[in-house]
Amino acid sequence: MTRSNAEGMKSYWDEKIDWWAESSYEEKPRGPLERWMASLRRSVHARAVIALELLEPFIKDKVVLDVGCGNGHFAKCCAELGAKHVIGTDISPAAVEIARKLAKANGVGDRTTFEVARAGEPLPPSDVVTGFGLVDWLEREECLRFFRNIKDRTFMFSYSEQDGSFDEIIHHFYLVERLRLFGGGVRAYHHPRATIEGRLRKCNITNFEIVSRKEMRFGRLVHNLPTAKRNRTTRNG
Ligand SMILES: C[S@@+](CC[C@H](N)C(=O)[O-])C[C@H]1O[C@@H](n2cnc3c(N)ncnc32)[C@H](O)[C@@H]1O
Repeated sequence: MTRSNAEGMKSYWDEKIDWWAESSYEEKPRGPLERWMASLRRSVHARAVIALELLEPFIKDKVVLDVGCGNGHFAKCCAELGAKHVIGTDISPAAVEIARKLAKANGVGDRTTFEVARAGEPLPPSDVVTGFGLVDWLEREECLRFFRNIKDRTFMFSYSEQDGSFDEIIHHFYLVERLRLFGGGVRAYHHPRATIEGRLRKCNITNFEIVSRKEMRFGRLVHNLPTAKRNRTTRNG
């Protein structure tokens, strides 16, 4: 990511994170188009619920790092589920500030730390690293750096799969194409599964499972938890 693209991404999320998180987690969409998009974003909530179910046995008393933490919803949930400490990082200073406030308001401020950082930078130490809705915003080189960073840790991240479903195609035009044409350098991506698998292998990550559930629509979770069915896709529903 060039410096100016990184600045663009920072400003984009500084402006958007609050309403994005509200409409994703609190179902408070603003305006008719947003109301319709919010029905798609319910899959974001489902993604967090499913991720927490899968991760819960592996985070108790552990240090969790959530990269691209947004408003801190996931970090807060990990702390509530018994993580020893949760570090959230995000390119957006506004997101980091909101995440701090959310953690404090929910009584987990003392077991959480939030910092401004980019996904491709060296990551602080942790037992587990997560990243939800993040890979969709990373250019290839930064995505590869992120994968190299998480290679030797227990990880879980999500991506939007270019699966040709109705929802995926509509979201592709609503977000990916709109930003490509009018985003002023800020880009988002839906990836074919082969791209994600290829990038992981390029970073010598060969032990992973891709989880697909109908509630997540075209969202996928990728993890290497001890329960991972090596190089398998798990569909449920
Ligand atoms: C779709 S939101 C997801 C937020 C949160 N993970 C969640 O699932 O609720 C994407 C987040 O990734 C952050 N982000 C985008 N590019 C980033 C980068 N290069 N490094 C770190 N964070 C980034 C954005 O600021 C935003 O908060």
